[in-house]
Amino acid sequence: MRWEPTEEQQLVQRTARELAVREIEPVARELDRTGRWPAEIVRRLGELGLMGIAVPTEWGGAGADHVAYVLAMEEISRACASVGVILSVNNSLVCAPLLEHGSELLKRRYLEPLASGRMLGCFALTEPASGSDAAHMQTVAERDGEGWILNGSKNWITNGPHADVCIVFAATDRAAGARGVTAFVVERGTPGYAPQKPDEKLGIHAAHSCTVFFENCRVPDAQRLGEVGQGFKIAMKTLDGGRIGIAAQAIGIARAAFEKALAYSRERRAFGTPLADKQAIQFKLADMATEIDAAHLLALRAAWMKDRGVRHTAESSIAKLFASEMATRVTHQAMQIFGGYGYSREYDLERHYRDARITEIYEGTSEIQRIVIAAQVLRD
Ligand code: CAA
Repeated sequence: MRWEPTEEQQLVQRTARELAVREIEPVARELDRTGRWPAEIVRRLGELGLMGIAVPTEWGGAGADHVAYVLAMEEISRACASVGVILSVNNSLVCAPLLEHGSELLKRRYLEPLASGRMLGCFALTEPASGSDAAHMQTVAERDGEGWILNGSKNWITNGPHADVCIVFAATDRAAGARGVTAFVVERGTPGYAPQKPDEKLGIHAAHSCTVFFENCRVPDAQRLGEVGQGFKIAMKTLDGGRIGIAAQAIGIARAAFEKALAYSRERRAFGTPLADKQAIQFKLADMATEIDAAHLLALRAAWMKDRGVRHTAESSIAKLFASEMATRVTHQAMQIFGGYGYSREYDLERHYRDARITEIYEGTSEIQRIVIAAQVLRD
């Protein structure tokens, strides 16, 4: 395993860093305050090839790999976690399954515009009554001549209010449970496809999510993604990749909090010396740096395995579990170092603290990651 990024990986990282520092960081606080959808930044992500980082160039992507994707996600999320998840959903939850399971027609129609940023995607698995227990969905797709009729609702759908394309999972054989789920690609504007207004959340305010209703929504069979009954496996494999992205998002958030706490500890004086001179603070900084590094290496390992086509279910969950809980711990400690200023809305710390929290919930809670890891460990 190389410990140094390749030139291509460095180029993607540099591209993401420059965009993050010049165009995202300056507006991140405003985006958090207003909850404004960052349309101009989403456009720039597409122009720079960051919306389909690991998608081959022939399908409109950057033609890089998942290690590059992790590096880019960390840079973008360090500036703004909302932009990070907009990016990760399009890359790993929409482009990736289209690339792996899409027909030529679906790839031409959707993957190319999604990877090049001309379209935006969302991934609709979660429902009001089934989040962790994803297989027990109520949304159904029934055969209707050459097509399918979808009925049901999905919620917490990141990018939902703005997405042009939705990958949706529906039960086509309810008695078959996980083996009776099928995936479809539904385009915005299809009658019966109705995204609702953005949800109000604790953090990632600019990453809009919403409920999506499917009311007698007719889709041709050509819009089916993968085989009938294979939808749940497609969702799980997709989440194996998605969880690497969320790990990287958590690392980016933690880095932002750590760097700010480090700088503050050098400036702020108490009892006659800078905070950084005190061992209590040094120990916090040491733990934060160690945990961030460990999470970074775990995310890179999972990405590296994905790039080699090796099954990485456990490694993705390990990276996501550790990185997300680490981000909660690091942002907590960073706030301790900042004291009252950390709690104030005048500074960024409280944003990072709030944003970190979601990484322990979406794309599988920490508890679900432990179930996935335990299943793999017990199988070996
Ligand atoms: N890869 C390939 N196949 C897989 C798989 C994987 N990673 N995981 C499971 N499968 C297969 C199993 O082998 C099994 O196949 P067979 O029927 O052939 O035996 C089938 O799928 C069913 O598997 P399980 O019996 O393990 O399924 P389960 O019902 O017990 O659920 C679970 C397992 C891990 C708990 C799963 O439901 C899960 O991951 N839940 C969390 C859902 C989640 O992460 N949701 C996130 C929503 S998206 C999101 O959050 C986006 C956002 O906002 C940013």
